[in-house]
Amino acid sequence: MATRTKDRTRSTAHAVKQTYRIAVIPGDGTGPEVIREGRKVLEAAAAREGFGFEWQEYDLGGARYLKTHETLPASVVKQLRGVDAIYLGAIGHPDVKPGILEQGILLKLRFELDQYINLRPVKLYPGVWTPLRDKGPEHIDFVVVRENTEGLYAGVGGFLKKGTPEEVALQTSVNTRHGVERCIRFAFDYTRKRAKAKKLTFCGKTNVLTFAHDLWQRAFNEIAQEYRDITTDYTHVDACCMWMVKNPEWFDVIVTDNMFGDIITDLGAMIQGGMGIAAGGNLNPKGVSMFEPIGGSAPKYTGQNVINPLAAICAGGMMLEYLGQPQAGQAIEHAVMAITGKKLKSLAAGKMGYGTREVGDLVVSALGK
Ligand code: IPM
Ligand code: MN
Repeated sequence: MATRTKDRTRSTAHAVKQTYRIAVIPGDGTGPEVIREGRKVLEAAAAREGFGFEWQEYDLGGARYLKTHETLPASVVKQLRGVDAIYLGAIGHPDVKPGILEQGILLKLRFELDQYINLRPVKLYPGVWTPLRDKGPEHIDFVVVRENTEGLYAGVGGFLKKGTPEEVALQTSVNTRHGVERCIRFAFDYTRKRAKAKKLTFCGKTNVLTFAHDLWQRAFNEIAQEYRDITTDYTHVDACCMWMVKNPEWFDVIVTDNMFGDIITDLGAMIQGGMGIAAGGNLNPKGVSMFEPIGGSAPKYTGQNVINPLAAICAGGMMLEYLGQPQAGQAIEHAVMAITGKKLKSLAAGKMGYGTREVGDLVVSALGK
């Protein structure tokens, strides 16, 4: 087989390979169902381009926790450090107290592997229903760069006099110059490479978070000097929510902290057609990255063949782009766009007009065209 030349527009250092070692964490609820379709599509896209995968499955999730009380053993983290990428379904189990699996698996993976960027494209595909009247695919196409290892997620804080009427709870937002700077630099580089409007908006709350976002704002302004070709903008997070609904076409790339990024990307997911289509990448540009549909484990739909696998499929497409296979990644995106426009009645679970497996099959056959 001919060796492929590396796409120089990408930001990663991944060498193009013939076989990629992918750790798969199907996880809880509908995770395994959507991951199964994602793998099917990834295999088809890879076959087309002449590369392949070596899959390694890990049974992390609620079921394992209930059996063994383990969330993410150190031995697993060690193995994950050696793979090319991680493909994750969903984490969250109705019989496990909220927080244990999220913190013990998902957030721990992001932190341990230093996946300091959470990249979340908000793109309305043709034919997909959006709750925004008068807005179409030409208006909704931006990307959120969410800081993924610091802020309110750092787990710094504690209780004083817990359980008493005088109880105090502190949860501190951690913002290091190093962490903020690497996130903002990534966002500038990404905006340049995306080459759409070449506009980067910092979304913060500088009027209230006068320490944390003062640091962000100064770092942003200083780094902007190195990127004169990029137009910069600022929005308070509350106004950002307003503009995302009223004028989503104003955005090209948004950079924001961990908590605000979490919140605005759920809004983003809704305007692009819902959790059925929203995908994200947890990136460590120098290490192991992890790709996931951003919706949860949807326990009530488990095992019914009704959940929409497109978000997992799109996450798989992102993974391929990131691994240095942009053609295969884009082929997946085009195949998804072909079926959202022509085949599916809706992107909502149970309302697609097709089952989970059948949607996977439709994407595979659209890939062949
Ligand atoms: C997400 C999720 C997680 C987060 C939860 C499950 C911890 O909402 O990926 O956006 O808050 O980051
Ligand atoms: Mn979230």
